[in-house]
Amino acid sequence: MTQRVYLDYAATSPLAPAAAEAFLEASALRGNPSSLHSEGRRARLSLESSRERIAAAAGAQTSELVFTGSGTEADNLAVKGLFWARAAQDPRRRRILLTGIEHHAVLDTVEWLERHEGAVVDVAAVGPDGVADLDSVRALLAAHPGDYALATLMWANNETGALQPVTEFTALCAEHGVPVHSDAVQAFGTVPTDFPSSGLATMAVSGHKLGAPVGIGALFVRRDVTVEAHTHGGGQERGIRSGTLNVAAAAAFAAALKTPEERDEARRLRSLQARLIRRVRESIPEAVLNGPDPLERPDARLPGSVNLSFPGAEGDSILFLLDMAGFQTSTGSACTAGVPRPSHVILAMTGDEVRSRGTQRFSLGRDTTAEDVDHLADVLPGIIERARAAGISAGESRIETASTRARRERADEGRDSS
Ligand SMILES: Cc1ncc(COP(=O)(O)O)c(C=O)c1O
Repeated sequence: MTQRVYLDYAATSPLAPAAAEAFLEASALRGNPSSLHSEGRRARLSLESSRERIAAAAGAQTSELVFTGSGTEADNLAVKGLFWARAAQDPRRRRILLTGIEHHAVLDTVEWLERHEGAVVDVAAVGPDGVADLDSVRALLAAHPGDYALATLMWANNETGALQPVTEFTALCAEHGVPVHSDAVQAFGTVPTDFPSSGLATMAVSGHKLGAPVGIGALFVRRDVTVEAHTHGGGQERGIRSGTLNVAAAAAFAAALKTPEERDEARRLRSLQARLIRRVRESIPEAVLNGPDPLERPDARLPGSVNLSFPGAEGDSILFLLDMAGFQTSTGSACTAGVPRPSHVILAMTGDEVRSRGTQRFSLGRDTTAEDVDHLADVLPGIIERARAAGISAGESRIETASTRARRERADEGRDSS
């Protein structure tokens, strides 16, 4: 049987043993954490201890953490909630500032506000290394003083792993009284994400990227910030997010967070990351690294992230060939049904459609070994050659017909952009 090598930790991390154990233990608690009887109080105790541990990982106060069902929900809550609250205080503030590399959880929420709530959207530039261009941010803020309801900048990009200048960004926005949201789903628990010193109003995180089960996320909300609720009911979580709380998933989320010793894991991942990049550069010299080069700037990107473009090969051909060879990876671009589509992130960085279509993301994690990396580096040249040949022979059928368009649109509805 082919050896299976999981290299898609950025999409979701396999369940961590400590998280599974904590989940099972907390699942045995019977009470609703809002109930007043002893069972309820025991569930509340478990929930609050999880809250403490997760909040501490961001240097935040427990009262600043609002549990949600996912990172996507946390992003929606922040972006819509800040927009509504700010526009209600000052109807002139209807603009939203963001970059084109945001995750769809933010991008599509902003687009929704544009279509349904009269938001005006300004997209700041990003550099060729995938890092937000602060001059462009400065220019936009100066061009529309007093008009922004909020600005948003992710902490680390999910495709390139590029870390963003969040603190500098919030400082610029603060000069104009603009609250800032950050999607820290990829960064939290992997690199330091100190909420108080970041200057952020809100910050979204998610459990399953770290080894907790899917279905638990959180939004950090600074105490002095108003976020308009979009889920109403029992008034849980400061009234910002009503709904019975998921005690077992919260316990698993807390247990999945790394202890200081385990954080040394970042050093191990950085060395595997460097090994993979070096080996690919030797055997496929035309491969292009997307995002900051960790061999030159090790602190500029997430430790387990490698994203490469292979000119002449389609990302999804590479993905399927790798899958057949036993490796699970991601293209980073929207999921398609026979029609390759460029990655919006690489496009925003480079404007280069060919490079945006030939990308492959390898995200390394807890169980990745040096042998896995070497094994990948050994098979990759042959796979790229076959993907290029497949791209050339399929070239004619790349024209989008009515039926392929319909399939693509169906696929787009269930778009995968983790
Ligand atoms: C940067 C980023 N933001 C948001 C999300 C959405 O998080 P979740 O899967 O918890 O909804 C993801 C993952 O898909 C992500 O990588």
